[in-house]
Amino acid sequence: MKRLRFGMLALGFSAGLAQAADPSVAQRVEQLLGRMTLEEKVGQLNQLSGKEFTGPATEKVRGMEAEIRSGHVGSMLNIKGVADTRRLQALALESRLKIPLLFGLDVIHGYQTVFPVPLGESASWDLEAIEKSARIAAREAASSGIHWTFAPMVDVGRDPRWGRVMEGAGEDSYLGSRIAEARVRGFQGARMGGVESVMATAKHFAGYGAAIAGRDYNAVDMSDHQLFETYLPPFKAALDAGAATFMNAFNTLNGIPATGHAGLQRDILKGAWGFKGFVVSDWGSVREMVVHGYAADLPDAAAKALNAGSDMDMESNAYSSALAAQVTAGKVPLAQVDDAVRRVLTKKFELGLFDDPYRFSDAAREQAAMSDPRHRQAARDIAGKSIVLLKNEGAVLPLRRGLRSIAVIGPLADARRDLEGGWIVKSGADKMASLVDAVREAAGPGTKVQYAPGCDVACRSGDGFAAALQAARGADAVVLALGESWDMSGEAKSRADIGLPGRQGELFAALRAIGKTPVVVINAGRPLIFEEVAEQAPAIVYAWFPGTEGARATADVLFGDVNPSAKLPMTFPRNPGQLPISYQQYETGRPVRDVKNIVYRSAYIDSPNTPRYAFGHGLSYTTFAYRDLRVSDARMRADGKITLSFTLANLGKRAGREVVQLYLRDPVASIVRPVKELKGFQLVTLGAGEARQVSFTIERETLSFFDRKLAWTAEPGAF
Ligand code: BGC
Repeated sequence: MKRLRFGMLALGFSAGLAQAADPSVAQRVEQLLGRMTLEEKVGQLNQLSGKEFTGPATEKVRGMEAEIRSGHVGSMLNIKGVADTRRLQALALESRLKIPLLFGLDVIHGYQTVFPVPLGESASWDLEAIEKSARIAAREAASSGIHWTFAPMVDVGRDPRWGRVMEGAGEDSYLGSRIAEARVRGFQGARMGGVESVMATAKHFAGYGAAIAGRDYNAVDMSDHQLFETYLPPFKAALDAGAATFMNAFNTLNGIPATGHAGLQRDILKGAWGFKGFVVSDWGSVREMVVHGYAADLPDAAAKALNAGSDMDMESNAYSSALAAQVTAGKVPLAQVDDAVRRVLTKKFELGLFDDPYRFSDAAREQAAMSDPRHRQAARDIAGKSIVLLKNEGAVLPLRRGLRSIAVIGPLADARRDLEGGWIVKSGADKMASLVDAVREAAGPGTKVQYAPGCDVACRSGDGFAAALQAARGADAVVLALGESWDMSGEAKSRADIGLPGRQGELFAALRAIGKTPVVVINAGRPLIFEEVAEQAPAIVYAWFPGTEGARATADVLFGDVNPSAKLPMTFPRNPGQLPISYQQYETGRPVRDVKNIVYRSAYIDSPNTPRYAFGHGLSYTTFAYRDLRVSDARMRADGKITLSFTLANLGKRAGREVVQLYLRDPVASIVRPVKELKGFQLVTLGAGEARQVSFTIERETLSFFDRKLAWTAEPGAF
């Protein structure tokens, strides 16, 4: 097995903290392991999807039931609800050793209550709110029998053509790490085994977000340095926060499928980082190693995956069909199978499933969790914190109350299902408000609210434009809701053109042509490109897919009941030619210093280098001033600390919240550092006219980076 050369380095990451195993659990695991046949061991590493179980009792269902009864299945995904989880658990308890099943599910941004898509939520930079949303999702999911969520996705994403940026925390490794921790804490609660918690999964290990050209599942080719600097830290942060499991990835990383990557899984994750949980493959990713051209056939793939550290096989049927024979043939050491089984059983014990296999599936708790009104309130609050005010010329927003009439138009104006976004468990669209409803509620009975869609989201035809223009004509204010449908972002939803779909831009232009200046609301799962709107709309509200209460939260922002504070977690490009894009660029030898002089400079001759909206951008209805920046000392010793402080003042007439961001630059180093790196942030709420001192501590850690040998170092110099 070819190993990465960084294999055994300490890697500047300390070994995982929250991973120490309970000795009594370890004993029980060993006892059980001692009684297991090879076939039963392999069974624990086999995960099947239970979608079929919700349909009629076909041959396939009967076959799967028999597999569970005979101990050939360790875990199921896509089974949910007290009734179904209990029914299947009962089958597992008929097996010889009565080892309970683990039920996993993609609880990505809510279970019943849908929160903003993770990228949107990340725009809040509000770790408390993010943790709370994961906590609520866990409470709802756990009560209906789910033990384990396949979240958070902590892949850094710098190419919005990749549809899965929707599931992550954006482009930045530091912000992504803090959010990864918050999500893991939220899902898992204070300690493993609580009945209102689910195990978290840090996914997809690793590099998946850097798919070439933003095309999902595509190969990834990057330097070890980039991997360490940008892509691995959120995984390490998730691990340190106690993430019980990891999921590997579909992609190859420098020619080796992540699923068969021993350097990643054995050397880094289970070696240097000391991860004690287990790794699940991605859906069918063991089998896909054959398609990649890395394994000759399914048995070969099974051996390569297990040897490389993939403990559980999701839906490839590679382990169940071939692993035992590969052990017998000497291709896989039994000790490695034992190690994988030990990891899986440990989690089952820690969850308390051997003591009560049904403890998560509780009808009364399910009922209580699903009807808790606080969950929807939290969804509205968090959505309000996630909505980014991109532009607000002439303070067009907030809308005044008491207007005679408002026209809410556009293909997303009356959308409900779209507002939930992708990767939801079950749509609750029938119980949601659309933006039209929410504006009506917020404006009150004195304001006439008119609605016309103009076109559907794909917007292939302009036949509805006339009616929309008609609705807009007499209105005192026009809100135009544009963007993507829920299924345009997400897995396998890469787009080569990330513009507004179809003729949506023409609808905007038609409104401008009749002299209207619409406030534009955009729903999407990714940064979109909308140059004309960006230039000409007086106000733009980027609402992502904001979830169950998203329309009301959007109206809260439009009317100023919520003063927006969100900041972009991803750079918004001007055109697809700039992709991939991130604020964290490296200086070239020929940087553009003056946009009027780009001859033989690192530039495009047909586009500026600068983005449309920068990472960290987001406006408020008030204005903040930063003044009196001070450093406690101009020099810092290697083991010392200095404090950076300044006064933040709210100059406006309303209370507001600022996300203060600390960036640093190391201008000369043994390996070139990015022109700007996020090193800290704080959320500060100030009343109108209020001012407060804000400070950050800078220490060796703040100034450290991975050097050429991938050692975590700080070098003396100016910063
Ligand atoms: C996705 C994973 C997901 C899994 C199970 C795969 O296609 O890549 O993120 O957890 O399916 O649904």
